[in-house]
Amino acid sequence: MAERLQAPRGTFDVLPEEGELRLALHAAAGDLLGRAGYGYFESPVFEDTEVFARGVGQSTDIVQKEMFTFEDKAGRSLTLRPEATAGVCRAYAEHGMHKLPQPVKLWFWGPFFRHEAPQAGRFRQFTQVDAEALGSDDPSLDAELILLLAELLERARARDVRLRLSSLGDAAARESYGVELKAYLREHEGELSEEVRARIDANPLRAFDADHPGTRRVMEGAPLLLDRLAPADAEHFAGVRALLDSAGLAYELDPKLVRGLDYYTRTVFEFESGRLGAQNALGGGGRYDGLVEQLGGPPTPGVGWAAGIERILLASDLAVAGRAKVFVSWTGEAATAFAIARAVRARGGHAEMEQAGRSLKGQLKQADRIGATHVVLVGEGLEVKDMASGEQRPVASVDEAVEAVTP
Ligand code: HAM
Repeated sequence: MAERLQAPRGTFDVLPEEGELRLALHAAAGDLLGRAGYGYFESPVFEDTEVFARGVGQSTDIVQKEMFTFEDKAGRSLTLRPEATAGVCRAYAEHGMHKLPQPVKLWFWGPFFRHEAPQAGRFRQFTQVDAEALGSDDPSLDAELILLLAELLERARARDVRLRLSSLGDAAARESYGVELKAYLREHEGELSEEVRARIDANPLRAFDADHPGTRRVMEGAPLLLDRLAPADAEHFAGVRALLDSAGLAYELDPKLVRGLDYYTRTVFEFESGRLGAQNALGGGGRYDGLVEQLGGPPTPGVGWAAGIERILLASDLAVAGRAKVFVSWTGEAATAFAIARAVRARGGHAEMEQAGRSLKGQLKQADRIGATHVVLVGEGLEVKDMASGEQRPVASVDEAVEAVTP
């Protein structure tokens, strides 16, 4: 026998039971986001490496360690997309979307790739649902997007969810804060983990994210960016919070919230679930007012989020309601059974027929296994069986059979 092959490490197959839940989530996302004016969008699964190197940021783990990068036959460097936002901004600039009425609202769904160590809830190929609003810095967009993700998680029946919220201000505040934070970290260098020490210059903010006990102690007394926002940014953040408060959405203000991507300005947020282990982020995002420009487009504000479908399902009690099913069993004319199944489907019903050469007894067992509510028996004549009551009666024609089993 030939050697049995397996899916690559950190990837998975979606089998039909889970597939149905994913389709339900996809439909819920399309409904919710569509009704808020977000149009469906797709970009290529790979982009020029430059899109992510410039977009996501050189100092991030994503760019430094996690990208699946390869050369095409002409020697150009391409990368399987690790996230959606940089590609969305590339597309916004490429298609001149700044000429459209603003804001431009987009949502999309698809596979993303990060070369991380696989563990529960962390994969090398995973699925994100993503929403972005470009071309306006109105705080109502930040609030709208946060509320839409909260609603999607609720529809997905994600359990034990909490929302953390903060603001990173503008580049100037971040820069002077960065100088202050670096000086503070240097003062305490001896107490920090080696990894944090090595990155004081490149990415001092990551120190807030460390698990190392000494580093954590130091960070408790660290200066906070949220206390150093410029007046316009503080006002913007107050505007976002006021809208969330008036919508009655609970959140925790967390000045130590660190996102793993460099492009954020102003609002940042993350939804977590206590149902998940170490990888507890269901989804997150924020504002990225400089990103389109960084990718060669005009200065354009933007805000958005992405959520991990596999993690949402791990944290959820979602169940898809079973629908009425018809099983067409036959010992007589196969063509009649085939026609009945097609007619039931044409009327909007769910129909399956015997397609594995089972005995009549085996066919009825199969009807039971798929949870059929009705069976049509094609033998010498036609009969219809109600599986709940067990009642079985003859019918005169194909039309009558179809009529009897479709609601
Ligand atoms: P992110 O926080 O890197 O943000 O990813 C968003 C979500 O994707 C995470 O909360 C998690 O649920 C899921 N995720 C990330 N990596 C993995 C993985 N290896 N395995 C399974 N799930 C994963 C972004 O990607 C930003 N682009 C979000 C954004 C949009 N910001 C503004 N607009």
